[in-house]
Amino acid sequence: MKRAASSIAEKMIKVDHAGENGAVNIYRAQHLASTLRAPRLKPQLKHFQQHEEEHREIFKTYLDSVGVRRCVSYHLNGLGGFALGLVTGLIGPSAVAATTYAVENVVLEHLEHQLEYLKDAEPEAFAAVSAIYEDEKAHHDQAKAQMQADKLLSKILVRIVRTCTEAVIWFGMR
Ligand SMILES: [Fe+2]
Ligand SMILES: [Fe+2]
Repeated sequence: MKRAASSIAEKMIKVDHAGENGAVNIYRAQHLASTLRAPRLKPQLKHFQQHEEEHREIFKTYLDSVGVRRCVSYHLNGLGGFALGLVTGLIGPSAVAATTYAVENVVLEHLEHQLEYLKDAEPEAFAAVSAIYEDEKAHHDQAKAQMQADKLLSKILVRIVRTCTEAVIWFGMR
């Protein structure tokens, strides 16, 4: 019988795990939509999706090891991520890049804050978060280079996606 996350470290990893499920599904849906809109993006999206699957597995392994159950938002994140990925994937490459940039921008800030806390509090959780940081940074930097930041649509998307990502984190940590 698994228990709910109780320590701050456990809540952090629980949120990260649920967030990765959202990320997996964003890229999965964008990959699908890109078949129509931007086939040249498909290898990159597949590659990002594989990273997110590995990240989700790293956090799942941690949660299993401490006997903590996943976040109640896990499946909702998957569904929300898929819907977001489908819509942005159908809009096209600049919407895809703006979405990745916005998600990863919030994620990086969040991971840096977690690493700062976990380095003294919980070495195992620190190791799990450290393991994914470079991948997220690479996603962020690549998307930043690809997005058309001065387009109105990009600005609107970044605002919406940032707010949604922050809401997922807030909900999971409360
Ligand atoms: Fe990730
Ligand atoms: Fe990522």
